[in-house]
Amino acid sequence: PRLRVWLARPLFEDVTGRLDQHFDVVRSAVGNRYAGAEIAARLRDVDGALVTLVERIGAEEIAGATRLRAVANVGVGYDNIDVEALGAAGVLVTNTPDVLTDTTADFGFALLMAAARRVTEAERWLRDGHWGRWSFDTLLGVDLHGSTLCILGMGRIGQGIARRAAGFDMRVLYHNRSRLPEAVERECRAEYADLPGLLQRADHLVLALPHSASTHHLIDAGALARMKPTATLVNIARGGIVDELALAAALAGGRLGAAALDVYEGEPRVRPELLALDNVVLTPHIASASLATRRAMVALAVDNLVAALGCGPDAGRPPTPVNAGALKR
Ligand code: GLV
Ligand code: GLV
Repeated sequence: PRLRVWLARPLFEDVTGRLDQHFDVVRSAVGNRYAGAEIAARLRDVDGALVTLVERIGAEEIAGATRLRAVANVGVGYDNIDVEALGAAGVLVTNTPDVLTDTTADFGFALLMAAARRVTEAERWLRDGHWGRWSFDTLLGVDLHGSTLCILGMGRIGQGIARRAAGFDMRVLYHNRSRLPEAVERECRAEYADLPGLLQRADHLVLALPHSASTHHLIDAGALARMKPTATLVNIARGGIVDELALAAALAGGRLGAAALDVYEGEPRVRPELLALDNVVLTPHIASASLATRRAMVALAVDNLVAALGCGPDAGRPPTPVNAGALKR
């Protein structure tokens, strides 16, 4: 009998159509947000699933999923999945690194420039008909060139940001769980700093680190208080890394210059405290959303699922496993 997989939402039919060559595919018609019980119901009688970051999967969701062997996440981040719980149950988890690195780093720069130079605020001002009130000091921003860019989380995406910063003549400092090899530091023209030093010296701070219990609310009121009152904060990682109420208070109180957020704690909900501010750029989790990259992410997730379930040319060797150990069980 053919293996059965659940495709949690419609994703580029021509790319996900490849699943039909190997599996019976259970498709969900619309891009719903599922309650945990609905996810559990769908996982109960499948061997694999292809999901996105809005599907939250943990011990409860897989409790009755006795056939489940693999979950392919479309996304590099996987804090929607309890990897420990799935691994303990022998379920392989895969993600989609690399294919989105440059697109996401590009967007990090778009947000940085938008916040520092007040691009979206300026457009709102123009559309609202205020140009007649223009004066020479209208909408003054801060520069990127010649400034100090700090990057928290120096994985592939953080390194991509650093490389781009060279073109803007920025000085780059980074902090990471582990320090990078000297050759990589040289190539990225980035210097290591400890976290307090990074916060203090940042003209601009970009967050590109994974969200976990140890990075939850890493940027809280105390961290924000260490930053320059003129600094810009960009979050392209996960909302949970930032205490959003503390951020909104700092932005409202003139204790931080500006921010740009692509990710939020309670997506798709955005806190009214943030929506009320002019000095924050808000985008709906689109950092990897170029057509080519979103297609590449889905294609990689399909490759992962096919291989993880023992099919295709890479049978048993999925390209980008998160918990490769689960395969051996
Ligand atoms: C998107 O946020 C991702 O992790 O790929
Ligand atoms: C993700 O690709 C990262 O390493 O930053």
